[in-house]
Amino acid sequence: MSYKRINVAVIGAGWVGGIRINACASSPLVNELHIAEINPDRTKKIADNCNATSFTTNWKNLIDNESIDAIIIASTPESERFPIVRAALKAKKHVMIEKPIAPTLREADEAIKLIEVNNLKFTIGYTRRFDPKYAFINKSLKSGKLGQPVTCLISRNITREIGNKIKSRSKMSPAAMGGTHSIDFLLWCLQPRLPVKVYSQQAGKLFNKISETPDHQWIIVTMDDGTTITAGSGWVLPLGHPQYSQSWIEVIGTEGSLTVDDTHREVSINTTKHGIRYPLSSMPGEQVDHVFAGAMVDETLHFLDAVANDNPVLATAQEARLVMEVTIAADLSAKRGEAIYLN
Ligand SMILES: NC(=O)c1ccc[n+]([C@@H]2O[C@H](COP(=O)([O-])OP(=O)(O)OC[C@H]3O[C@@H](n4cnc5c(N)ncnc54)[C@H](O)[C@@H]3O)[C@@H](O)[C@H]2O)c1
Repeated sequence: MSYKRINVAVIGAGWVGGIRINACASSPLVNELHIAEINPDRTKKIADNCNATSFTTNWKNLIDNESIDAIIIASTPESERFPIVRAALKAKKHVMIEKPIAPTLREADEAIKLIEVNNLKFTIGYTRRFDPKYAFINKSLKSGKLGQPVTCLISRNITREIGNKIKSRSKMSPAAMGGTHSIDFLLWCLQPRLPVKVYSQQAGKLFNKISETPDHQWIIVTMDDGTTITAGSGWVLPLGHPQYSQSWIEVIGTEGSLTVDDTHREVSINTTKHGIRYPLSSMPGEQVDHVFAGAMVDETLHFLDAVANDNPVLATAQEARLVMEVTIAADLSAKRGEAIYLN
């Protein structure tokens, strides 16, 4: 069997970039794999584990390399990523970027225009869409099995260890950083309904003493048919396991309900050194010897397939822009203490 092979670059070889790199390295669709990373320790670690074609500390070298078809952008801080997106799209590279799509709606619109003009594949790391439990929720809602949706809730909390990492690099709110996954997921499940009204409240008793970052944020969204969404996002849980993340999901419909326990308590390990911990519990997932436990590898392979075989991407730039509209409205609502209506 013959198939098209593509040349791929990954910018930022940190936690998430490392997973994307390993997924690319394992894919038969990838011919050359190029990596940009400014941290020498990370570069060495990645170089030891994957057979990359080239390494650079300057991402601009990858933009200038005409043989590269697609670029995955996983560098931080998020606020400094848009120049990379713009340059990659202008150079007609297909792009996958970690959320959020851009710092402002104006920049998101600029990206969307370049994607359309240059006819490019572009997707955002909304990894929950590739998790089987979440795919089942989407299927149950879209098939009408639960009747008409009445209300959907996702409460997600991550440990303060990750919260500390996030707040040290940006002032983005829990809505923009963690809530964005839940909002994207539920807007996707509820399509073609559209959000019309957003109300949000933040709380802070830990992080806000040392930074401008709250500890937790609730977002309530009303859709144009009256369905409500509630999404909670926090980052001050005590350590349950390195990068521990827990979510609780409820979907109530006119003909049924669906409850998903995504708290990762089905596997627990108890050691004298650490007490009880919950492994296999991070958002992107992790490699366990020969298998990957999580959704990020499948998501990365999906992007490679979209580029190599001209297939559609699951999470589009327009959808990511709509998510941004909601999270921006949520932050404004929390600031003003009033509901925000979307146009
Ligand atoms: N989809 C998910 O489930 C999920 C989960 C966690 C994080 N994320 C997102 O993934 C992104 C990356 O998060 P992370 O935890 O891997 O961060 P990280 O800090 O571990 O990695 C970022 C890497 O980028 C590198 N970098 C910084 N500037 C660079 C530059 N100019 N050129 C090249 N490399 C550069 C850093 O040295 C670092 O190694 C974030 O936007 C985060 O929000 C997504």
